[in-house]
Amino acid sequence: MDRDKYKWQFASILAIAFQNRYVEQLADQSLSQEFSAEHIYNNLDKPKDPKMGRFAFPVFRFSKVLKIAPPIIAKSVVEYIKEKDELTSTLVQIEAMGGFINCHVNMKSLIVETLNAVLSQSSEYGNSTIGDGKRVIVEYSSVNIAKPFGIGHLRTTILGNSLRLLYKKCGYDVVGINYLGDWGTQFGKMIVAFRKWGGDIDLSQNAVAQLLELYVRFHKEAELDEALNEEARRVFKALEDGESEAVALWQRFREISIDEFKRIYELLGVEFDLITGESFLNDKMDSLIERLEKANLTSESQGALIVELDDPLLPPCLLKKADGATLYATRDIAGALWRYGEYRFDKSLYVVAVSQSDHFKQVFKVIELLEEAEKIPESERIAPRLEHTDFGWVKFGDKTMSTRSGTIIFLEDVINKAIHLVHDMITEKNPKLPELEKTAQAVGVGAVLFSQLSVRRQTDVNFDWDAVLSFEGETGPYLQYTHARLCSLIRKYNQDISPDIDFSVLDREEEHRVIELLYDFPVTIESAVQQDEPFFVSSYLLSLSSAFNRVYQRKDESGGPDRIISDDTSKSSARMALVQAVRIVIGEGLRLLGIQAPEEM
Ligand code: ARG
Repeated sequence: MDRDKYKWQFASILAIAFQNRYVEQLADQSLSQEFSAEHIYNNLDKPKDPKMGRFAFPVFRFSKVLKIAPPIIAKSVVEYIKEKDELTSTLVQIEAMGGFINCHVNMKSLIVETLNAVLSQSSEYGNSTIGDGKRVIVEYSSVNIAKPFGIGHLRTTILGNSLRLLYKKCGYDVVGINYLGDWGTQFGKMIVAFRKWGGDIDLSQNAVAQLLELYVRFHKEAELDEALNEEARRVFKALEDGESEAVALWQRFREISIDEFKRIYELLGVEFDLITGESFLNDKMDSLIERLEKANLTSESQGALIVELDDPLLPPCLLKKADGATLYATRDIAGALWRYGEYRFDKSLYVVAVSQSDHFKQVFKVIELLEEAEKIPESERIAPRLEHTDFGWVKFGDKTMSTRSGTIIFLEDVINKAIHLVHDMITEKNPKLPELEKTAQAVGVGAVLFSQLSVRRQTDVNFDWDAVLSFEGETGPYLQYTHARLCSLIRKYNQDISPDIDFSVLDREEEHRVIELLYDFPVTIESAVQQDEPFFVSSYLLSLSSAFNRVYQRKDESGGPDRIISDDTSKSSARMALVQAVRIVIGEGLRLLGIQAPEEM
C-alpha cells in the first residue's frame, strides 16, 4: 500500500518521540512493536472537526502500559517534539488536546501536490500498483438460464462489475467471469413442460417469461401428478447422457436466455471477460470424483456419494445422488480446479449472496482436504485463494426478494421504470436538454446501480423508489448532477486551465476540505479493493460532492455570492483548477462503480 506521506511523517515523529521520552519505562518491556511508526500509523484517526487538524493520535492505548494519564502523556510528548524541533516542512503544527495528539499539515504543499497530481494524471489519478500484475478472478452475476433475470441477481452483478474495475485500477490482472446456472434437474422439468404444453409457443419474443410460465405450470401439475417429477428426472438423466433431442432443446433455452441477458447487461453497462456455466464442467465430473476417491475422501450414504467434512458445523458435501446425477457443489469444486489450471489465479472471488455461505464453505473445505491428502505444496494450494465475497438481501418495501417464493421482480422492468421516471423529471426541469433519451437512460440506470453500492455489501438494501431517484441526498443522480454542474462551469469558463496557477488564493476552509478529500482518493480506492467494498468509493464520492457543494454555496465577505468565475483572473483560474480536479475524480469514481457521468443533465 502506498503510504500517505503526511500521515507517515507524523507517525514517525511520534514513534521517535515516544521511544525517547519513555526510554526507561519501555526498557524492560517488549513493546517496540506497539511504539513503532508502523503501528502508530495504523492507529491514527481523523479528528471529527477538521479544524482540529488532519490527524489525531489517541494516546489512551499507551496510558495503561506507561501507567500515566493520557492528557499528561499527550502534553509531554508534544513538549518533547517541540523542544527537539522535529517538525518538517510538511507538518506545521502538533498539539495536545486532552488524550489526543493532533497534527496539522502544511496545506500549501498539500494543495499544490494534490491539484497538480489530479490535473496531470487525469483519470489515471488514483491508479495503484498494489496488484503488481497478480491475477484475480471475480465471478459475478451468474444468473440462471430459462429463468428471468430477477432483482435477486442485481446486487451480485453490480458489486462484481465494480470490483472488477477497482481491481484493474489497482494493477491486478482481472478475469471477470459470469458462471451461468445452466445445468441441473430443473432442465428435466423444463424440457418435459415444453414438450407437453409448449407446442405453440413463439420463442422469438419474450422467451424467458414464457419459459417461466411453463416452469410454474410444471410445479402446479406435478403436485397432482407425481409421475411428472419421475419423468423430469428421467429426461435430465437423458440430457446428462447426451441424448440429442434433449440436448437440442436445452441448447435452445440456453441461447435465447443468453440473448435476453445480454440486452440487460448492455443496458447496465456490465461486462465480463468470460461467460461460462455449470454445464461446461460436465465432462470434468468423472475425473474429479476419481481423484477424490483416490484421496480416500469419499464415502457412501444411502446410495449417494459424499465427502465428510471434519467440521461439526458443516453437513457432508454431496457429490453424487443415488441416481448418479452430480450436484451444484460437485460442479463448483471442479470449476475452481479448472479455473486454477487455466488462469493460475492468486485470488478468486465469488460474489454471491450470503445465503450460499454454507455451500461455499463446503466447496472450499473439500478442496482443502483434497490438497492436504495429496500433499500439494503450500504455495501451490488453491483452497487458500478462494473467497466467498458475500452480500446481504435486497428488500422491496419490507419484502425480501426471492425467485422461489414466486415474487419475482423482473430486473428489466425495474430499470425501465427508473429510466421513465428520470425521463419525466428531466422533461419537467430541462426539456431542451440535448440527448435527453440517452441521459435519462444513464441517470435511471445510475440510480439503480448506486442503490446497490451505497451501503456496505453485507448490509441489506432497501429499495425505495423515491429515495433511489432523488436528485438530492445520497443517490446516484445527485452525484451525476454534481458532475454535470462541474462540466457546465468548465464550459462556461471556456479557457485552458493554465499550468502555472497560484494555488495560494485557495485559502478558504471549504476549499481546503475539498482538496484534502481529493488527496484521499487513492487511499480510498486501495481500501475498497483490500476489503472488497465498493461502498468506500460511493460514500467517498458523496462526501466529496457535498464538500464541493459547500464551496459552491459560500458567500463572500460582504455576504453576496462568492462566484467561482469572477473578474479576479488569478482567483478564477485557481478555482477552476479545483473544479476540474473535482470533476475528474467524481467522473473516475463513478466509472469505478460502473456508473456513467453525463456532461449535461
Ligand atoms: N447460479 C447461482 C444462483 O443463481 C449462483 C452461482 C454462484 N456461483 C457459483 N460459483 N456457485 O443461485
